[in-house]
Amino acid sequence: MTAVRPAIRRATRDDVPRVVEIERSSFSDPWTPGAFRSAADEERLDFLVAEHEGRVVGYSVSWGVVDQAELANLAVAADARGLGIGGQLLDAAMALAREAGCESMHLEVRESNVAARALYGSRGFAEVGRRRRYYRAPVEDALVLRAEIVAG
Ligand SMILES: CC(C)(COP(=O)(O)OP(=O)(O)OC[C@H]1O[C@@H](n2cnc3c(N)ncnc32)[C@H](O)[C@@H]1OP(=O)(O)O)[C@@H](O)C(=O)NCCC(=O)NCCS
Repeated sequence: MTAVRPAIRRATRDDVPRVVEIERSSFSDPWTPGAFRSAADEERLDFLVAEHEGRVVGYSVSWGVVDQAELANLAVAADARGLGIGGQLLDAAMALAREAGCESMHLEVRESNVAARALYGSRGFAEVGRRRRYYRAPVEDALVLRAEIVAG
């Protein structure tokens, strides 16, 4: 894999149309533009975008509550996958959570999502639960994954 080094920065409302484009091509039950606009406006959320060669190619949305962080969304444009961008976005989200005092991060992932499960496994996430029929279109169980993010 030839890794690229995207610039990772906080998202603004100006990023939302491109983020929505990636979201709609990545998920069968996508977040709405309004959900991303709210995320951009909410300073307590970590809504990050990865930019490569002047183009937004991926994003993540996460937040911390006391000592636990939650990764709510992560996607990379189809033509920019496999280049290390998703991993770097996740690393950045985990670093921000750590700085905010979080000790662990949780997320949900479709059981059939091989690429995402490989990415999360590479960052130390392990299965801690299952939410039955959590997803729509198609209905599928979510695996709940958790990773320690204690400062090293
Ligand atoms: C999941 C996703 C974000 C991964 O992003 P990416 O930029 O392609 O991932 P990376 O290139 O950073 O790869 C990270 C790790 O996952 C592994 N990986 C990524 N895609 C993989 C695939 N299709 N099959 C197997 N492993 C894969 C890589 O080998 C890498 O492991 P390493 O760090 O040990 O080398 C991307 O595939 C995506 O946007 N999918 C659609 C949206 C989605 O499913 N989001 C997650 C919802 S929970």
